[in-house]
Amino acid sequence: MFHRRKKEPSTSTTLPISNLDAPMPPTAYTSTTAFLRNRTSPFKSFIFALSLLVNLYLLLTPLWAPPSSTLPQPKTILSRLSPTTRRHVLFAVASSSLSWHRRLPYLHLWYSPNATRAFAFIDRPPPSVANSTSSRSSPPVVISGDTSAFPYTFRGGLRSAIRVARVVKEVVDRNETEVRWFVFGDDDTVFFVDNVVRTLAKYDHSEWFYVGSNSESYEQNVKYSFEMAFGGGGFAISYSLARVLARVLDSCLKRYGHLYGSDSRIYSCVTELGVGLTHEPGFHQLDMRGNLFGIMAAHPLSPLLSLHHLDAVEPLFPNMNRVQALEHLFAAAKVDPVRILQQTVCYDRSNSLTFSVSWGFAIQVYQGNELLPDLLSLQRTFVPWRRGSKVQANFMFNTRDYPRDPCKRPSVFFMKRVTSDKRGIWSNYGRHVVGNCFDSNATGFKQIIVFSRKLELSIEQMKAPRRQCCNVLPTSNDTISLHIRQCGADELISMQL
Ligand SMILES: *[C@@H]1O[C@H](CO)[C@@H](O)[C@H](O)[C@H]1NC(C)=O
Ligand SMILES: *[C@@H]1O[C@H](CO)[C@@H](O)[C@H](O)[C@H]1NC(C)=O
Ligand SMILES: *[C@@H]1O[C@H](CO)[C@@H](O)[C@H](O)[C@H]1NC(C)=O
Ligand SMILES: *[C@@H]1O[C@H](CO)[C@@H](O)[C@H](O)[C@H]1NC(C)=O
Ligand SMILES: *[C@@H]1O[C@H](CO)[C@@H](O)[C@H](O)[C@H]1NC(C)=O
Repeated sequence: MFHRRKKEPSTSTTLPISNLDAPMPPTAYTSTTAFLRNRTSPFKSFIFALSLLVNLYLLLTPLWAPPSSTLPQPKTILSRLSPTTRRHVLFAVASSSLSWHRRLPYLHLWYSPNATRAFAFIDRPPPSVANSTSSRSSPPVVISGDTSAFPYTFRGGLRSAIRVARVVKEVVDRNETEVRWFVFGDDDTVFFVDNVVRTLAKYDHSEWFYVGSNSESYEQNVKYSFEMAFGGGGFAISYSLARVLARVLDSCLKRYGHLYGSDSRIYSCVTELGVGLTHEPGFHQLDMRGNLFGIMAAHPLSPLLSLHHLDAVEPLFPNMNRVQALEHLFAAAKVDPVRILQQTVCYDRSNSLTFSVSWGFAIQVYQGNELLPDLLSLQRTFVPWRRGSKVQANFMFNTRDYPRDPCKRPSVFFMKRVTSDKRGIWSNYGRHVVGNCFDSNATGFKQIIVFSRKLELSIEQMKAPRRQCCNVLPTSNDTISLHIRQCGADELISMQL
């Protein structure tokens, strides 16, 4: 969601710091030390030791015997240890009767009835919900509750922000079983569900987690918050935090009527609960327009989790419409989800060529030696969300120019197909010719075949990711082969040995 927000006078009041905020001294412990200072007879020592034991007991008891009301069932303890899988993640999609049909193709990309748990929340039944079970299934539709009693005072904003914020409460209040994480997004958010599940598995759902990403736009983050999970990029809330948030949300909604969006309301309420954002860079709000090539070609070293605002950008692949292009990307993601868009760089020393691979998307070939850190900055192929020449455009990442003259750009090869068998995965990239640029011999080839194995990362490896290495293999005819593999212990990603 992108929102324009004028600065509103703050209506919040600051309470004086009360004594109640000071930490309570552990009284039993304090009395024991006083006891120790004053008396020293053997009998008193015995009493002291006894009281120490009693204190120790009191201190540790809650771990063994919590009050019966919060006693975790043995099943819960076990399930905390079992890996988090797709069935533990419940998606809640905010839609509306007006956008539902237009956005169904996006939902179909990532939702499947027997592999994804999701509900779509809508203001009122769309024209033919009864019919939409036709060829492909969409998430079950839930009609949102009435929100007319809540204040909304942001001028020019949309009241629906309240309804969308309350999706958090409404999905939790359904008491669905075995949920460890609730994931929220818009109807134009596409999720890479396998990666969302693996990423959330890094965190303990029984603790309070608010996981997401801020905007790519510096100005947007200044306006809202650098620590807010932007709603369109999607965000996740752990089960235990979601339960509490659902209980208190309505009270927060009354206090934040002056805010524009739903995500600001959730952020405010989570903040009042004392919880901060856990940043996951794979969620993409995508507050930008134009060509996403630069973003897709240099994804952070972190699994791709979502894409948003896809109506506002050009199709991701040439000669396809938006949905076809996304289906094409998802076909690759299905074969090797963790590797999708992961950037690997290979050097061909003998021909002095640099290959920058964004797996499943595109390969760029540079003449000469390009240093890895330079290739990690994003080519500015996109424009800011806000139109107009005076618009400031600062992004949350390093960018570099993308030459207007196609002949000055690296040669681009877009992914054509991905095949796999027991031995591994072959992804095929075909040359994309723009303009009448003269190709020197070295880059005269027409296709690149990349061999890799499915990227399987343990939770520990996901917490300390390392980029992979690759080799350029002998070329046959008009084809170059690249082999992506784990780097050696001391291996450096560079042209010189
Ligand atoms: C549902 O599950 C079955 C069996 O696991 C599978 O063959 C089928 O493709 C799945 N359907 C969808 C829409 O994912
Ligand atoms: C269901 O679809 C048919 C044709 O596809 C259409 O004529 C009919 O109006 C739809 N029903 C509803 C309730 O919208
Ligand atoms: C969910 O559980 C709560 C507490 O047990 C109950 O009050 C509520 O009615 C339940 N909601 C649904 C939809 O079953
Ligand atoms: C092209 O290749 C030929 C034969 O391999 C070689 O003689 C020539 O120098 C190359 N030209 C360029 C511009 O690299
Ligand atoms: C080289 O290309 C020609 C024609 O495109 C083809 O007939 C031949 O089999 C290819 N050779 C190799 C080794 O791939």
